[in-house]
Amino acid sequence: MINEKFPKIWYGGDYNPEQWDKATMEEDMRMFNLAGIDVATVNVFSWAKIQRDEVSYDFTWLDDIIERLTKENIYLCLATSTGAHPAWMAKKYPDVLRVDYEGRKRKFGGRHNSCPNSPTYRKYAKILAGKLAERYKDHPQIVMWHVSNEYGGYCYCDNCEKQFRVWLKERYGTLEALNKAWNTSFWSHTFYDWDEIVAPNALSEEWSGNRTNFQGISLDYRRFQSDSLLECFKMERDELKRWTPDIPVTTNLMGFYPELDYFKWAKEMDVVSWDNYPSMDTPFSFTAMAHNLMRGLKSGQPFMLMEQTPGVQNWQPYNSAKRPGVMRLWSYQAVAHGADTVMFFQLRRSVGACEKYHGAVIEHVGHEHTRVFRECAELGKELQQLGDTILDARSEAKVAVMYDWENRWALELSSGPSIALNYVNEVHKYYDALYKQNIQTDMISVEEDLSKYKVVIAPVMYMVKPGFAERVERFVAQGGTFVTTFFSGIVNENDLVTLGGYPGELRNVMGIWAEEIDALLPGHQNEIVLRQDWGGLRGSYSCGILCDVIHAETAEVLAEYGADYYKGTPVLTRNKFGNGQSYYVASSPDADFLQGLIANLCEEQGVKPLLNTPDGVEVAERVKNGTSYLFVMNHNAEEMTFDAGASRQRDLLTGKTISGQATIPARGVMILERA
Ligand code: GAL
Repeated sequence: MINEKFPKIWYGGDYNPEQWDKATMEEDMRMFNLAGIDVATVNVFSWAKIQRDEVSYDFTWLDDIIERLTKENIYLCLATSTGAHPAWMAKKYPDVLRVDYEGRKRKFGGRHNSCPNSPTYRKYAKILAGKLAERYKDHPQIVMWHVSNEYGGYCYCDNCEKQFRVWLKERYGTLEALNKAWNTSFWSHTFYDWDEIVAPNALSEEWSGNRTNFQGISLDYRRFQSDSLLECFKMERDELKRWTPDIPVTTNLMGFYPELDYFKWAKEMDVVSWDNYPSMDTPFSFTAMAHNLMRGLKSGQPFMLMEQTPGVQNWQPYNSAKRPGVMRLWSYQAVAHGADTVMFFQLRRSVGACEKYHGAVIEHVGHEHTRVFRECAELGKELQQLGDTILDARSEAKVAVMYDWENRWALELSSGPSIALNYVNEVHKYYDALYKQNIQTDMISVEEDLSKYKVVIAPVMYMVKPGFAERVERFVAQGGTFVTTFFSGIVNENDLVTLGGYPGELRNVMGIWAEEIDALLPGHQNEIVLRQDWGGLRGSYSCGILCDVIHAETAEVLAEYGADYYKGTPVLTRNKFGNGQSYYVASSPDADFLQGLIANLCEEQGVKPLLNTPDGVEVAERVKNGTSYLFVMNHNAEEMTFDAGASRQRDLLTGKTISGQATIPARGVMILERA
């Protein structure tokens, strides 16, 4: 359990008092108490303050901060400060500076700016983590280590290039194996010496960020850079663990952030934490899906909401204020999906530089008489009252949607068949259909144990890794329902096409083969025409982006295309396989079709919605010791009514008992306790 040391939903966030004088900090303590803040993330970006040259370290100011917070009984999420290197280091040891995609050597500036394969960066980051852990190892208030900050970005410098060759040697063993995996006989690319291999960027194989001549090298470079940053994380983690084996270690992730394979990262982290910054028009179902992905990183373990803004952001094109009630609502949305902390960036707004217009619990005016502060303080009180009731409660979803970073990289790198194909959007379409019907859903990796689920949906599973097809076959044979879509089963883990007909290794379980893949022009659609009514699905629906032209082998055809030269050929098939069945959706359908499809699949498998609610009223469940906690969240700006069911349930937030028709205020939240 995350919150062992003080068992309640931790409440607080990033705090940078090194930017302020002592009097301000005094005032902060008073206001933290008013707001019910009990955890502070400190020392996130202080490397330059701690270390002015190679040998001098000064922690006295940090001692001070830690003592002040300790006096107020505020717990510490202590960061290691390695998310931005000091200027002196960049000047003296240019190897810490990255080379960018265009091949330009960067100068000092920004943050998240260190080359992960820089010997200097690694040396000093390791020393710093070790010194921090040694100094504060016995400090009773430290509840979490926060390594670096939002790892990300790629580097293309000479050190990375050299290290890439080492990484490749480990992966492939011989150049012969590498040449085969990358299909280098194409365009005369055969390598005879490891040193002939260069980093793939705009100077070599790539352009526009994700267009490439060779998917093999580009895919491996993404794996390698993700691994390189992960090495940096592990190096600091191991230093911290040397001194404090019992303090958990995390680093803040970013949801669907494209560049790192978080499933791989999560294996190295004690606790998953992430920063949730939806914009005002992000669909609520997208945020819910991102929370569930973060929960899925460690197979359902609760996670930390490490950052969110209490008010506005500063880095989006339009930084609208969170409307009254929205901060509370979105905080509970995180908790509903598995967060056991509610934390902000930031506790006090900074006075200068690019984040001065980023919201904070304490705004520039400096006192507590602001709307944002009042809302924060009310939530602080509420979380205190909740105590430990829902800590460590889990999801018991019977439906899962798969997501895979390597699959995403390969898809995005593939030239053709359509730039309109966006993996995350396709995944979201299915998640959204489940969300709208209040079907509790997990987001899982391709390695997850499938036997927990009744329905598993793997949209655009383009890359099939070793062993995956067999696991799907076993899952279906044992009674599961598996769904995949167009452009699936095309390549192996090296982006080499599986010959003999798409969907390659999935052909057996799907009972179809795809002969052609047609990309529709912008604005063009085809039709999904049901052969006969099926549950709520009847008549026709539109579809687009890609249309696989498929042949049913052992599968039964449920719907066919309504137009074009493949009119009358299958677009939706069902294949009975052992005790279960698999569905192939050969194009990207409209939302109505997906609603109907999801309803039918859940019905067939006996998976019930958590509740029936009107549009915009979200429901999610956490379960603990046989008790269900049903979160009902009204995203609408007006009061709504819904059917809470016949049994009497207590709302943990108001203490009221409800049943039958219930009303929920605009942007309101209920946590219904059900035995
Ligand atoms: C996060 C970052 C914070 C702060 C925040 C602003 O991505 O970790 O340091 O910059 O964004 O929204």
